[in-house]
Amino acid sequence: MLHTTALVALLAAVPSFIAPVAASPKRGLVFTPNETTRADDDIWVTKPTTLTWYYNYKSDPEPTYADVPQSEFEFVPMLWGTPPTLDDTSFLTNVTRLVEQGVNITNVLSFNEPDGPFAWGGSSMQPSVAAQVWVKNMIPLQEIGIRVGLPACTGGPDGLPWVQDFLTECSKLISTDDETRNCTYDFVTIHWYGSFDGLASHMGQYAAAFPNKTMWITEYNLANEDLAATQSFYNISADYFDRLDFVERYSLFGAFRSDVSNVGPNGAMLSNNGSLTDIGAWYLGRPATGIKPTDGSSESSGFRSLPQAGLSVLGALLAAAAFL
Ligand SMILES: *[C@@H]1O[C@H](CO)[C@@H](O)[C@H](O)[C@H]1NC(C)=O
Ligand SMILES: *[C@@H]1O[C@H](CO)[C@@H](O)[C@H](O)[C@H]1NC(C)=O
Ligand SMILES: *[C@@H]1O[C@H](CO)[C@@H](O)[C@H](O)[C@H]1NC(C)=O
Ligand SMILES: *[C@@H]1O[C@H](CO)[C@@H](O)[C@H](O)[C@H]1NC(C)=O
Ligand SMILES: *[C@@H]1O[C@H](CO)[C@@H](O)[C@H](O)[C@H]1NC(C)=O
Ligand SMILES: *[C@@H]1O[C@H](CO)[C@@H](O)[C@H](O)[C@H]1NC(C)=O
Ligand SMILES: *[C@@H]1O[C@H](CO)[C@@H](O)[C@H](O)[C@H]1NC(C)=O
Repeated sequence: MLHTTALVALLAAVPSFIAPVAASPKRGLVFTPNETTRADDDIWVTKPTTLTWYYNYKSDPEPTYADVPQSEFEFVPMLWGTPPTLDDTSFLTNVTRLVEQGVNITNVLSFNEPDGPFAWGGSSMQPSVAAQVWVKNMIPLQEIGIRVGLPACTGGPDGLPWVQDFLTECSKLISTDDETRNCTYDFVTIHWYGSFDGLASHMGQYAAAFPNKTMWITEYNLANEDLAATQSFYNISADYFDRLDFVERYSLFGAFRSDVSNVGPNGAMLSNNGSLTDIGAWYLGRPATGIKPTDGSSESSGFRSLPQAGLSVLGALLAAAAFL
């Protein structure tokens, strides 16, 4: 007992001596706020943190991060899905306006799980429709030097063929009888919910299909597994992403409380009362907190079933999970 007490005291003292947290050029935030717990939003921009960029599934940055400079925490706009009309260029207008306002936009993301149905958080688009929207909105942004990511399909088997169909359709739109042109892109974007082996194999498939392109993993986690397996998956995948040169960026899904998680309670970076879990702390480059995902709940001593509430815009997950 005495030993344990001494060890706990020692461990508690450690954080003040460890090296400062280094910013990670790769690591970012998938911003998924909950209206009932907006105070949690500050956690991701409180130092020390590794995070250097974020996206929110929208074209405009979060007012809550208005005071955080773009150079420290880069906002990456996303064109989520089909606009109200096929000739709509409001994404282009919105991003151009940011640039004119002096916001240094260097990267944008395109369609969120277009191969997945709305009910699962996908944007449910035909490749030919997505191609039209891309030509109107993305090509003009590329022409002013903004880097553009390929659409992020689910981790399911239809994802990669969808992206390939999309590129074929897109290239058709910009080609003429006299001149064949290809739609171009700057990086490949993927999602994954499942085991590390599955993730590595999925990345390998995309790397083979799109050689010499960098990759962003913009949503990933091990869904619905126990805490030990989820923590192990977190460590192994973060280490893998950090080691591989072709992985340009990654963002863990994620940044919400355990009791509203739709990837199972253990993948959440916040506990039920809004404290960083071990995974949450590690993601920010800090030592483990020892806080369990289900801590801080009125039901925290007992089993809490997977909540239904998380089925939101961000959903996406079930789309991927269904294929696992
Ligand atoms: C452009 O911004 C407006 C709000 O200013 C928003 O309603 C609209 O959805 C945005 N367009 C796109 C495609 O994100
Ligand atoms: C904008 O961001 C890019 C990439 O981070 C950087 O190389 C460039 O210097 C920045 N431009 C300005 C004007 O800050
Ligand atoms: C377009 O892409 C195809 C297939 O990837 C390739 O064979 C062709 O050379 C490319 N054409 C141009 C003009 O880049
Ligand atoms: C990819 O890059 C390597 C090294 O730069 C080069 O040797 C290879 O030809 C490239 N492959 C393609 C398909 O562009
Ligand atoms: C994950 O990594 C942290 C250090 O970053 C370590 O303390 C912890 O034991 C690891 N956990 C697992 C399950 O690998
Ligand atoms: C959440 O609960 C844990 C233990 O149950 C506690 O250590 C922590 O301080 C609480 N966090 C907040 C933000 O109240
Ligand atoms: C936000 O949190 C509340 C309270 O926990 C929950 O009932 C609701 O479902 C959450 N909303 C989303 C979109 O997760």
